[in-house]
Amino acid sequence: MSTKSQFATKIGLVAATVGSAIGLGNVWRFPAETQANGGAAFLLVYILCVLCLGIPVMLAEFSLGRGGRSDAVGVFKSLSPGKGWWLVGAVAVLASYLILCYYMVVAGWTLEYLFESVTGSLYEGASTSSGDGLRNVFAAKMDEYVGNDIRPLVFTFIMVGINIAVLLGGVQKGIEKLSNVLMPLLFIILVGLCCVTLSLPDAGSGVRFFLEPDFSKITPRVLVDGLGQAFFSLSLGMGILITYASYYPSSTRLGRTSVIVALLSLLVAVLMGLIIFPAVKSFGLDRESLEGATLVFVTLPEVFVNLPWPSLWSSLFFVLLLVAALTSTVSIAEVSVAMLQDRLGLSRRRATLTVMLPLLLFSAACSLSFGSLSGFRIFGLTVFGLFDTFTTDILLPLGSIAVCIYMGWFAPRGLLVDELSNKGSLRSRWTAPVLFVIRYIAPLLIAMILVFNYI
Ligand code: PHE
Repeated sequence: MSTKSQFATKIGLVAATVGSAIGLGNVWRFPAETQANGGAAFLLVYILCVLCLGIPVMLAEFSLGRGGRSDAVGVFKSLSPGKGWWLVGAVAVLASYLILCYYMVVAGWTLEYLFESVTGSLYEGASTSSGDGLRNVFAAKMDEYVGNDIRPLVFTFIMVGINIAVLLGGVQKGIEKLSNVLMPLLFIILVGLCCVTLSLPDAGSGVRFFLEPDFSKITPRVLVDGLGQAFFSLSLGMGILITYASYYPSSTRLGRTSVIVALLSLLVAVLMGLIIFPAVKSFGLDRESLEGATLVFVTLPEVFVNLPWPSLWSSLFFVLLLVAALTSTVSIAEVSVAMLQDRLGLSRRRATLTVMLPLLLFSAACSLSFGSLSGFRIFGLTVFGLFDTFTTDILLPLGSIAVCIYMGWFAPRGLLVDELSNKGSLRSRWTAPVLFVIRYIAPLLIAMILVFNYI
């Protein structure tokens, strides 16, 4: 690679990285985990994990990417040639591709729900029901929209098409431009929806559940889930941050960038909590499961139907979700595209199509996991479930541990110091504590997640 692509502006590189970090992980995984793990206590654990562990591991990935100036496999080859470390990158690329396959399906659902909200058909027949009847209306719609064979597939394919269009635009004209427009939009919608839900009657009890910690609720399970949530929501272990950091100019301050990305990702999670908990408490829906898909596709429509102009709020919410999903799918697809470009010397166009066209097949298999393929099981899991479990429970923690061990013990001496200080031109007080976390604390704690998932 002679001329490596770079982000054009500081704002653009932050927007793109934040766009990757802010995804369905913050928007729907976080509220579900918070509800399941006792509210504010979980929030506290999550914040501590992001700040004390997430940021150092993020810095390890940034330093690898910018120091090695290559794709997730290439950085290891260029920094430690002739050693087997590139396999760590290969695991990250595999994990990222498997995640892409099922995440694209979920992204397709968000587009489908946006479409149904805008046309109003999501709310057809809902105004005459209440209580359990209302819930059943939305549960039946979810079956129809998600469990049907054709409809979700069509929307998934549209999402693949949109991703191809962005990726073909390249780093500056595709990814960076998209993020520059969509990230501000995401924050505007979040704040707008927050104002609406905070002004609902009895919003305060939802806010208290979310923000007043009850320390007796902190159990080992809460700690493990908080850590898992922190890593997933910062896009760690997927090769994304390595790939994006390889597009950072050498003047980018990695420390500052990591703090901004982490804080904005936390902010989105907190705003989401301030939208969801007051809303569900206010309408007495808080005993319902807030499990991922049900929260977004059943409980929230129940909330919207109780407000004036349900289609408006619903459409805004699904635009929000779509933005979060799109900037994340693009970032995760870029891991494979960059690898094909750098390793095999393919053109951007060829690399993009080689990554995205087979995806039509794999994501179709994931989508049909909720329809005709629901009976097809491997280890008792559907294709969708298998890709999800194998990546989040096994590959991502393993990938992060390996990156920490490499950066902490085996990377060229001085790489981290050089990258954090921009080759000595910045003072970086944080290098020693960051290195300490990367060497000792993070690998041990992540290993704990791996083990805990099996007991
Ligand atoms: N941080 C992302 C999220 O919260 C993680 C992710 C990125 C997942 C890209 C998939 C694709 O959703």
